[in-house]
Amino acid sequence: MGNVILIGFMGSGKTTVGLRLSYRLRRAVIDTDKEIEKEEKRTISEIFAADGEGYFRDRETACLRKLLESTGNQIISVGGGLPMREENRKLLHELGQVFYLQASAETIYERVKHDTTRPLLQGDDPQTKIRMLLTERDSFYREAADVVINVDGKDFEHVLSEIEEQVD
Ligand code: S3P
Repeated sequence: MGNVILIGFMGSGKTTVGLRLSYRLRRAVIDTDKEIEKEEKRTISEIFAADGEGYFRDRETACLRKLLESTGNQIISVGGGLPMREENRKLLHELGQVFYLQASAETIYERVKHDTTRPLLQGDDPQTKIRMLLTERDSFYREAADVVINVDGKDFEHVLSEIEEQVD
């Protein structure tokens, strides 16, 4: 469907890269977390607290299915846990070209350490949680991706250029 899809761990830069890429490529941008919050009229934290992670994961799959019915040619950034479901990885593949913004646990921690909006990182030891989740998830991200872009130590301009060079 000609979409450019950005996947990766929380804090890897998907939302910001998505917005900037949207200006550069003159394509609309969609973020699955924002779509879900709009439809549910509540924040991700509220959804997790009231209905649990399983409910949120089902909303993510529903959101991908809905995107398959839209026009295509968009930039789509997705929540960090979305590619963990096999069904979602298939749907991502159908939607377009998938870029994995790959970041180290250190880069991620530096970017999210003051964040209060991500329920999975609100425990006492976010650094250990990041390392654990990243180890669990990296192979799924790679499986879902057509292109892997390492973002460690790179500014957004650098990351954008690397993506632009590889967009089909
Ligand atoms: C999550 C990532 C978040 C959001 C939710 C769960 C995850 O999105 O979907 O808090 O499981 O990694 P971002 O990756 O945009 O922070």
